[in-house]
Amino acid sequence: MNAVINGLSIRFFKARDAESCFKIRSAAFTREFYRELGARATSAGVNAFMPEDYVRMAKKSPFFVAEDSGGVIGFITIERRNKQVAEIALIYVDRKQLGKQIGQTLIKHIEQWVIANWPEVTSLIVDTVIPQYNSGFYKKVGFVPAGHAVCDFPDLQLPALRLEKKLKP
Ligand SMILES: CC(C)(COP(=O)(O)OP(=O)(O)OC[C@H]1O[C@@H](n2cnc3c(N)ncnc32)[C@H](O)[C@@H]1OP(=O)(O)O)[C@@H](O)C(=O)NCCC(=O)NCCS
Repeated sequence: MNAVINGLSIRFFKARDAESCFKIRSAAFTREFYRELGARATSAGVNAFMPEDYVRMAKKSPFFVAEDSGGVIGFITIERRNKQVAEIALIYVDRKQLGKQIGQTLIKHIEQWVIANWPEVTSLIVDTVIPQYNSGFYKKVGFVPAGHAVCDFPDLQLPALRLEKKLKP
Protein backbone atom coordinates (compact mmCIF):
# COMPACT_ATOMS: atom_id res chain seq x y z
CA MET A 1 0.00 0.00 0.00
CA ASN A 2 1.80 3.13 -1.23
CA ALA A 3 0.39 6.56 -0.51
CA VAL A 4 1.08 10.25 -0.77
CA ILE A 5 -0.27 12.04 2.30
CA ASN A 6 0.29 15.79 2.76
CA GLY A 7 2.93 15.63 0.01
CA LEU A 8 4.83 12.88 1.82
CA SER A 9 5.42 9.61 0.02
CA ILE A 10 4.86 6.50 2.12
CA ARG A 11 5.79 3.06 0.82
CA PHE A 12 6.76 -0.41 2.01
CA PHE A 13 10.31 -0.80 3.35
CA LYS A 14 12.94 -2.21 0.97
CA ALA A 15 16.21 -3.83 2.07
CA ARG A 16 18.16 -0.83 0.79
CA ASP A 17 16.37 1.36 3.41
CA ALA A 18 17.90 -0.53 6.35
CA GLU A 19 20.96 1.70 6.71
CA SER A 20 18.84 4.89 6.71
CA CYS A 21 16.44 3.48 9.32
CA PHE A 22 19.37 2.41 11.49
CA LYS A 23 20.90 5.91 11.31
CA ILE A 24 17.60 7.68 12.05
CA ARG A 25 16.91 5.53 15.13
CA SER A 26 20.49 5.64 16.43
CA ALA A 27 20.57 9.44 16.16
CA ALA A 28 17.33 9.69 18.17
CA PHE A 29 18.91 7.66 20.97
CA THR A 30 22.28 9.40 21.05
CA ARG A 31 21.05 12.98 20.51
CA GLU A 32 17.72 12.99 22.41
CA PHE A 33 17.01 9.93 24.54
CA TYR A 34 20.40 9.98 26.23
CA ARG A 35 19.16 12.76 28.52
CA GLU A 36 16.23 10.64 29.79
CA LEU A 37 17.85 7.18 29.60
CA GLY A 38 21.51 7.63 30.49
CA ALA A 39 24.50 5.97 28.84
CA ARG A 40 23.89 2.26 29.54
CA ALA A 41 20.31 2.18 28.28
CA THR A 42 21.18 4.40 25.29
CA SER A 43 23.88 1.97 24.25
CA ALA A 44 21.57 -1.05 24.76
CA GLY A 45 18.85 0.73 22.78
CA VAL A 46 21.08 1.49 19.81
CA ASN A 47 22.51 -2.02 19.78
CA ALA A 48 19.05 -3.60 19.89
CA PHE A 49 18.45 -3.03 16.15
CA MET A 50 21.20 -3.38 13.56
CA PRO A 51 20.47 -2.79 9.84
CA GLU A 52 19.86 -6.51 9.23
CA ASP A 53 17.24 -6.52 11.99
CA TYR A 54 15.11 -4.06 9.98
CA VAL A 55 15.28 -6.39 6.98
CA ARG A 56 14.20 -9.30 9.20
CA MET A 57 11.33 -7.30 10.76
CA ALA A 58 10.04 -6.20 7.36
CA LYS A 59 9.75 -9.84 6.28
CA LYS A 60 7.48 -10.61 9.24
CA SER A 61 5.42 -7.45 9.75
CA PRO A 62 4.10 -4.39 7.88
CA PHE A 63 6.93 -1.86 7.72
CA PHE A 64 6.59 1.52 5.99
CA VAL A 65 9.03 4.32 5.25
CA ALA A 66 8.30 7.99 4.54
CA GLU A 67 10.51 9.65 1.97
CA ASP A 68 11.01 12.95 0.27
CA SER A 69 13.26 13.82 -2.66
CA GLY A 70 16.32 13.45 -0.37
CA GLY A 71 15.54 9.91 0.77
CA VAL A 72 14.04 8.19 3.83
CA ILE A 73 13.02 10.62 6.60
CA GLY A 74 10.96 8.38 8.88
CA PHE A 75 9.56 4.89 9.37
CA ILE A 76 6.95 2.88 11.23
CA THR A 77 6.40 -0.82 11.82
CA ILE A 78 3.53 -2.64 13.46
CA GLU A 79 3.20 -6.15 14.93
CA ARG A 80 0.07 -8.14 15.69
CA ARG A 81 -0.03 -8.98 19.42
CA ASN A 82 -3.32 -10.89 19.41
CA LYS A 83 -6.63 -10.95 17.56
CA GLN A 84 -7.68 -7.46 18.70
CA VAL A 85 -4.41 -5.69 19.50
CA ALA A 86 -1.55 -4.49 17.30
CA GLU A 87 1.59 -2.79 18.59
CA ILE A 88 3.56 0.01 16.98
CA ALA A 89 6.95 -1.63 17.41
CA LEU A 90 9.02 1.25 16.02
CA ILE A 91 8.29 4.79 14.87
CA TYR A 92 11.08 7.25 14.19
CA VAL A 93 11.45 10.54 12.36
CA ASP A 94 14.76 12.03 11.20
CA ARG A 95 15.96 14.56 13.81
CA LYS A 96 16.30 17.22 11.07
CA GLN A 97 12.67 16.78 10.02
CA LEU A 98 10.84 16.98 13.36
CA GLY A 99 7.71 19.11 13.72
CA LYS A 100 6.58 18.72 10.09
CA GLN A 101 3.67 16.35 10.81
CA ILE A 102 5.65 13.35 9.57
CA GLY A 103 5.06 11.33 12.77
CA GLN A 104 1.34 12.12 12.65
CA THR A 105 1.18 11.14 8.98
CA LEU A 106 2.89 7.79 9.67
CA ILE A 107 0.40 7.05 12.46
CA LYS A 108 -2.52 7.95 10.18
CA HIS A 109 -1.15 5.68 7.47
CA ILE A 110 -0.70 2.70 9.78
CA GLU A 111 -4.21 3.17 11.20
CA GLN A 112 -5.64 3.09 7.68
CA TRP A 113 -3.56 0.01 6.88
CA VAL A 114 -4.75 -1.82 10.01
CA ILE A 115 -8.42 -0.96 9.42
CA ALA A 116 -8.17 -2.23 5.82
CA ASN A 117 -6.06 -5.34 6.46
CA TRP A 118 -6.63 -6.42 10.06
CA PRO A 119 -10.32 -5.54 10.55
CA GLU A 120 -10.55 -7.45 13.84
CA VAL A 121 -7.96 -5.21 15.49
CA THR A 122 -9.71 -2.73 17.77
CA SER A 123 -6.76 -1.06 19.44
CA LEU A 124 -3.21 0.03 18.81
CA ILE A 125 -0.66 0.07 21.61
CA VAL A 126 2.82 1.53 21.88
CA ASP A 127 5.35 1.10 24.70
CA THR A 128 7.78 3.94 25.24
CA VAL A 129 10.90 3.98 27.38
CA ILE A 130 11.13 7.77 27.11
CA PRO A 131 7.67 8.98 28.12
CA GLN A 132 8.93 12.41 29.21
CA TYR A 133 10.17 13.00 25.68
CA ASN A 134 7.45 11.56 23.50
CA SER A 135 4.19 10.89 25.38
CA GLY A 136 3.12 14.43 24.37
CA PHE A 137 3.26 13.32 20.73
CA TYR A 138 1.26 10.13 21.35
CA LYS A 139 -1.41 12.04 23.27
CA LYS A 140 -1.67 14.54 20.40
CA VAL A 141 -2.38 11.71 17.96
CA GLY A 142 -5.05 10.14 20.17
CA PHE A 143 -3.28 7.68 22.49
CA VAL A 144 -4.00 7.54 26.23
CA PRO A 145 -1.81 6.04 28.99
CA ALA A 146 -2.68 2.38 29.64
CA GLY A 147 -0.30 1.26 32.37
CA HIS A 148 3.22 0.04 32.85
CA ALA A 149 5.16 -2.23 30.51
CA VAL A 150 8.69 -3.53 30.11
CA CYS A 151 10.83 -3.16 26.98
CA ASP A 152 13.20 -6.04 26.40
CA PHE A 153 16.45 -4.96 24.79
CA PRO A 154 18.87 -7.87 24.26
CA ASP A 155 21.18 -6.57 27.01
CA LEU A 156 18.73 -4.79 29.28
CA GLN A 157 15.12 -4.63 30.45
CA LEU A 158 13.70 -1.11 30.77
CA PRO A 159 10.49 0.11 32.40
CA ALA A 160 8.14 1.64 29.83
CA LEU A 161 4.83 3.47 29.63
CA ARG A 162 2.13 1.78 27.54
CA LEU A 163 -0.23 4.00 25.56
CA GLU A 164 -3.31 2.83 23.71
CA LYS A 165 -5.58 4.12 20.95
CA LYS A 166 -8.97 2.60 20.20
CA LEU A 167 -9.66 2.31 16.48
CA LYS A 168 -12.97 3.37 15.09
CA PRO A 169 -14.56 0.73 12.83
C1 LIG B 1 7.69 11.26 18.40
C2 LIG B 1 8.07 11.58 16.95
C3 LIG B 1 7.72 10.37 16.07
C4 LIG B 1 7.25 12.81 16.52
O1 LIG B 1 7.51 13.06 15.13
P1 LIG B 1 7.19 14.47 14.44
O2 LIG B 1 7.15 14.24 12.99
O3 LIG B 1 8.13 15.52 14.93
O4 LIG B 1 5.74 14.79 15.02
P2 LIG B 1 4.59 15.65 14.29
O5 LIG B 1 5.21 16.82 13.63
O6 LIG B 1 3.76 14.74 13.44
O7 LIG B 1 3.74 16.12 15.56
C5 LIG B 1 2.35 15.90 15.69
C6 LIG B 1 1.87 16.71 16.89
O8 LIG B 1 2.53 16.23 18.08
C7 LIG B 1 3.25 17.29 18.71
N1 LIG B 1 4.53 16.74 19.19
C8 LIG B 1 5.50 16.17 18.45
N2 LIG B 1 6.52 15.77 19.24
C9 LIG B 1 6.17 16.12 20.50
C10 LIG B 1 6.80 15.97 21.76
N3 LIG B 1 8.00 15.38 21.88
N4 LIG B 1 6.15 16.44 22.87
C11 LIG B 1 4.94 17.03 22.76
N5 LIG B 1 4.27 17.19 21.58
C12 LIG B 1 4.89 16.74 20.47
C13 LIG B 1 3.49 18.32 17.62
O9 LIG B 1 3.66 19.61 18.16
C14 LIG B 1 2.25 18.18 16.77
O10 LIG B 1 1.19 18.92 17.38
P3 LIG B 1 0.25 19.90 16.48
O11 LIG B 1 -0.53 18.95 15.58
O12 LIG B 1 -0.59 20.61 17.47
O13 LIG B 1 1.18 20.76 15.69
C15 LIG B 1 9.56 11.96 16.83
O14 LIG B 1 9.89 12.91 17.81
C16 LIG B 1 10.47 10.77 17.02
O15 LIG B 1 11.01 10.19 16.08
N6 LIG B 1 10.66 10.40 18.29
C17 LIG B 1 11.40 9.25 18.62
C18 LIG B 1 10.57 8.04 18.34
C19 LIG B 1 10.29 7.23 19.53
O16 LIG B 1 10.40 7.65 20.64
N7 LIG B 1 9.92 6.02 19.30
C20 LIG B 1 9.69 5.19 20.44
C21 LIG B 1 8.60 4.22 20.21
S1 LIG B 1 9.28 2.87 19.30
